[in-house]
Amino acid sequence: MANALFRTKSIDRLLVDSAQTGETSLKRTLGAWSLIGLGIGAIIGAGLFVRTAAAIAERAGPSVTIAFIVAGVGCAFAGLCYAEFASMIPIAGSAYTYSYTTMGELVAWIIGWDLVLEYAVGAATVAIAWSQYLNNLLNVLGMSPVPYQWSHSPLETMVGTGIHGIVNIPAIVILLLLSLVLVRGTQESAIVNGIIVIAKVAIVILVISIGWGFMNPANHVPYIPAATTYTTAQGVTHAYGGIMGILGAAGVVFFAYIGFDAVSTAAQEAKNPSRDMPIGILGSLVICTILYVLFAHVLSGVATVEDFRGAGGEASVAYAIQKYMIGYGWLAKLVTVAILAGFSSVILVMLLGQSRVFYSMSRDGLVPKIFSDVHPKFRTPWKSNMLFFVFTSLFAGFLPDSIVGEMTSIGTLFAFILVCAGVWILRRRRPELHRAFRVPAVPVVCTLGIITCGAMIYGLGWTNWARLGVWLALGLVLYFAYGKSHSLLEKEGA
Ligand code: ALA
Repeated sequence: MANALFRTKSIDRLLVDSAQTGETSLKRTLGAWSLIGLGIGAIIGAGLFVRTAAAIAERAGPSVTIAFIVAGVGCAFAGLCYAEFASMIPIAGSAYTYSYTTMGELVAWIIGWDLVLEYAVGAATVAIAWSQYLNNLLNVLGMSPVPYQWSHSPLETMVGTGIHGIVNIPAIVILLLLSLVLVRGTQESAIVNGIIVIAKVAIVILVISIGWGFMNPANHVPYIPAATTYTTAQGVTHAYGGIMGILGAAGVVFFAYIGFDAVSTAAQEAKNPSRDMPIGILGSLVICTILYVLFAHVLSGVATVEDFRGAGGEASVAYAIQKYMIGYGWLAKLVTVAILAGFSSVILVMLLGQSRVFYSMSRDGLVPKIFSDVHPKFRTPWKSNMLFFVFTSLFAGFLPDSIVGEMTSIGTLFAFILVCAGVWILRRRRPELHRAFRVPAVPVVCTLGIITCGAMIYGLGWTNWARLGVWLALGLVLYFAYGKSHSLLEKEGA
């Protein structure tokens, strides 16, 4: 019994499997700059344009900038560990694949299940953010926005009125459209990705440089608010201000970094992995951290904490520009359009990542075959895409972004901890394996990664621990009820 839980898929076996599917033959075309572009393209999204304001309002005030640095440092440690795994196991993989070869089936299952929080629930979070900016765009174009009831979850109430949300229809519609794009099959277009990356970075730089002159120094005093508590609209009380406020804010804005691990999955396409991977991962993290810190500094300087606790909590960046940066209405429009395009690309990448992970798990027998059924014409896992459309819609339609966003953060942080531990374990168990890129100073970097990500989990507070606990417990029930006995390794008597 115990052996079954720790059985690993051998790396040699993985190589044979991937050779059959042609995954090992990817062309090595990406240099360090392309990798940095890939990272930034996957990263900037709802975390910056929606969750930053939530972290200011509910957790840390202006000291959200320090929170961005804490989150960036945690990502750097974990990112190096991802890069070592990716350079050692030469298939386009994810934390699920890496852990199956190293820590055994049970941990692999836990990570695969946990990645649903990162990818599917993450996509739902960005879809909710998309809905907020869509309404903002309709407003500034002089058109009537989608009524509050039909663009918010039942847990939200309109500020100053008693109107409750019913279901977030725009969020569901964008998820449907992008799921259909995936069913048809998408060629990740380098040109479209390039344009979106440039647009996103340009918007961030424009807001920083123009907004700098509109900052009110009083909004930055005190920079780190005194430690107290804040009760959210959903009735959850957590730390505000002080060290705990910063740690909680780091857990919230950590969302803004999710996706940089996309760089590690491109290890097989890197021209010179041992040099380009760390540059790609750390380079995109450093650039994003600098942009994020400056952006958050400007946002908390232009608008007040009270704004973000009220009507400015939605489409926060456009709100701050419209209210305080008089004469820059055009910037608000430009930001909104770029954000809508940018969010769509992030949702697409997340939904794609989700279907890839469940495709692998299904091929391994851990989840039903329906998740790897391929469309006869489009050659895509279309049933999986549609099932995940239903799943993500339930989250996006009926929950607020604070709940789904924090679930995404805590789930991803947990996966990062397992990846950091995995690198360390594998160094001891299989020291002889070739690693094109090696994490420096193991186990120090792995330990620091575990501590920093653990601190952010701690900061997110007990409601999030409880949600993660329930999600993982549900996963374990499913593993013992289905995955363990259907596993391919079980059938082969491994
Ligand atoms: N980092 C991505 C975002 O902020 C997931 O939307």
